[in-house]
Amino acid sequence: MEQDTQKIVEEAEAEAAKAADSRALYEVKMKFLGRAGKVTALLKGMREVAAELRPAFGKKVNELRETLEAKFAALEEKLKKKEMAAKLSGEQIDVTMPGRRRAQGTLHPVTRVKNELIDIFAGMGFEVFEGPEIETDYYNFTALNTPADHPARDMQDTFYLGEKFLLRTQTSAGQIRVMENKKPPIKILCPGKVFRSDDDATHSPMFHQMEGLVVDKHITLCDLQGMLDEFARTMFSQSSKTRLRPSYFPFTEPSVEVDVSCASCGGKGCSLCKGTGWIEVLGAGMVNRRVLENCGIDPDKYTGFAFGMGIERIAMLKYGINNIKLLTENDVRFLEQFKD
Ligand code: PHE
Repeated sequence: MEQDTQKIVEEAEAEAAKAADSRALYEVKMKFLGRAGKVTALLKGMREVAAELRPAFGKKVNELRETLEAKFAALEEKLKKKEMAAKLSGEQIDVTMPGRRRAQGTLHPVTRVKNELIDIFAGMGFEVFEGPEIETDYYNFTALNTPADHPARDMQDTFYLGEKFLLRTQTSAGQIRVMENKKPPIKILCPGKVFRSDDDATHSPMFHQMEGLVVDKHITLCDLQGMLDEFARTMFSQSSKTRLRPSYFPFTEPSVEVDVSCASCGGKGCSLCKGTGWIEVLGAGMVNRRVLENCGIDPDKYTGFAFGMGIERIAMLKYGINNIKLLTENDVRFLEQFKD
């Protein structure tokens, strides 16, 4: 018996020494002290031991169990400490390490200018209305006093989608949609994408426009110029001025083209304004009586003005961008420059 217990202790020690981690140690422990373990088996064999020897036998087995338990506990503590140390060193945070910077996006210059335009005109009481990009021929042309055979249709190279539908060539289509549904006073902005079959350094087949429309009693061209002056001063520089030149659009009468004094040379004349001191920024005019009639608004009672500007064009002037393509190429080196 003495020898047996000694052998079991040695065996357990040898196996426990081989356990690389607490999990392996636990398995060894179970092999000796578990329900099917060797020590437990000894206890189970007690029945075969002569009655007078049983107390001594039992005592021996219990001592054996205690010895092994103590040994396993000591080893387990050592392994657990080692494991904890390894875990802690693996999870260490070096607070002195430089952080990983996340590249932050910025608003696209077209979006910035669009937002700025909305801010400027919202300050004068305008509301925003957005019409569809796929329009009917009626809203884009006919209702705007440009019937099918009208030569002014050639002013804009249109992408037709069959007989009736087209990609809108101008946000002016939004004027009709608003006037059909709302009676004066009307003061709206209509921003959005427009499409024309046009492609060079200053034209792109898709660009953005901002339309403005005011209809009420006693609206005059002076109201238009006053608002555009305010727009030019806020968008370009406090000393910016505007001038109106006669022009032609079928849906306005009279029609004007609006120039802003060149912010780059202050009106003296430079390469940007081609020596004239002025830069053309938008088309505008008094809403044609026919257009008001088409929308069921009495032209003897109400008058209005409308204007339409290219957002890319304003962005190019404001930021000194010389090629419209830069605005659609999405080169981050370009876009990064428009940070607040
Ligand atoms: N729709 C015209 C264009 O795209 C601009 C415009 C708008 C002119 C409103 C007059 C009034 O060229």
